[in-house]
Amino acid sequence: MRTPPATRDSAFLKACRREPVPHTPVWFMRQAGRSLPEYLKVREGIAMLDSCMMPELVTEITLQPVRRHKVDAAIYFSDIVVPLKAIGIDLDIRPGVGPVIAEPIRTRADLARLRDLTPEDVPYVTEAIRMLTAELGATPLIGFAGAPFTLASYLVEGGPSRNHERTKAMMYGDPELWADLLDRLAEITGAFLKVQIEAGASAVQLFDSWVGALAPADYRRSVMPASAKVFDAVASYGVPRIHFGVGTGELLGLMGEAGADVVGVDWRVPMDEGARRVGPGKALQGNLDPAVLFAPTEAVEEKTREVLDAAAGLEGHIFNLGHGVMPATDPDALTRLVEYVHQQTAH
Ligand code: CP3
Repeated sequence: MRTPPATRDSAFLKACRREPVPHTPVWFMRQAGRSLPEYLKVREGIAMLDSCMMPELVTEITLQPVRRHKVDAAIYFSDIVVPLKAIGIDLDIRPGVGPVIAEPIRTRADLARLRDLTPEDVPYVTEAIRMLTAELGATPLIGFAGAPFTLASYLVEGGPSRNHERTKAMMYGDPELWADLLDRLAEITGAFLKVQIEAGASAVQLFDSWVGALAPADYRRSVMPASAKVFDAVASYGVPRIHFGVGTGELLGLMGEAGADVVGVDWRVPMDEGARRVGPGKALQGNLDPAVLFAPTEAVEEKTREVLDAAAGLEGHIFNLGHGVMPATDPDALTRLVEYVHQQTAH
């Protein structure tokens, strides 16, 4: 196992393993990024995708929220489309929009463009993670990837989508092509997570951000086999595998079943109800509404107390927001929140 003993004993990894913790660990999805002035400063004049390929810059950006907020884990600064770019898909990340694909994947012939990913395709990932783990000491580094459904949605639609209509048209209209597309993406994603774990990531999160658009029966039939394949690909490393999506209240049980050790819950489902839906044997991560951080401190504390109370009976709770930090969030509110959770849960 690559995780050093001090990191293995961190509150974050203990909570992932459902062991007793000195305090409830905290990290935030999108903790690195536009809410931080120091991030805006170092990113000035550098395009998002270019920044992901600059190991020293990635190291600095990943460390910024750890230094500032004293969060219990770092998340590798990158984006879910980086492995697609690395295998030659022509795409860009447009500010204020998100990933845009030059030529969407819509036919069987298009699948040939999704070749396997090898470590040689992403040398900057290995380099950045090695630098990071050296700097982080006992603080764990979370690697991540986009799940097959969410990646497929960007590839098929050609960009962000509210209703995923072309994606669903393929899923329902050509189930064989759909299954083959998701299987290709599962191979690529599994390989990408392996690179991150081999380089030193001590946990991984699979983001299926948009899968909440599906009903459980469709998830089980058309998505779960591919997500399960990703989790299986990294099972032998023994690092905790976190699974998260937005609006996935009805899918929580299945998302755990796909092979996650930790299931992320958004703010729509209370943590105790989330635990009931996920079932025994898994830790839970969540779930303060990120918009709550725009309210006064007393309100933030009250809503945080509600999350902590709902999670009090859980074996293994990692405090997080129900989705990513919004760019306009006051960074001081995040620092105060980390302090508050630590203080409220210390024993
Ligand atoms: O701190 C962290 O959480 C690590 C950084 C991170 C980024 N993207 C950096 C980023 C992570 C974990 C992601 C994952 C990601 N990317 C997801 C899954 C997480 C989620 O929010 O559900 C998704 C769906 C994407 C696709 C994507 N990339 C979107 C929707 C956007 C935002 C577009 C915009 O400008 O509002 C991006 C761009 C992006 N990825 C930014 C950052 C910091 C903003 C671009 C910038 O700072 O210039």
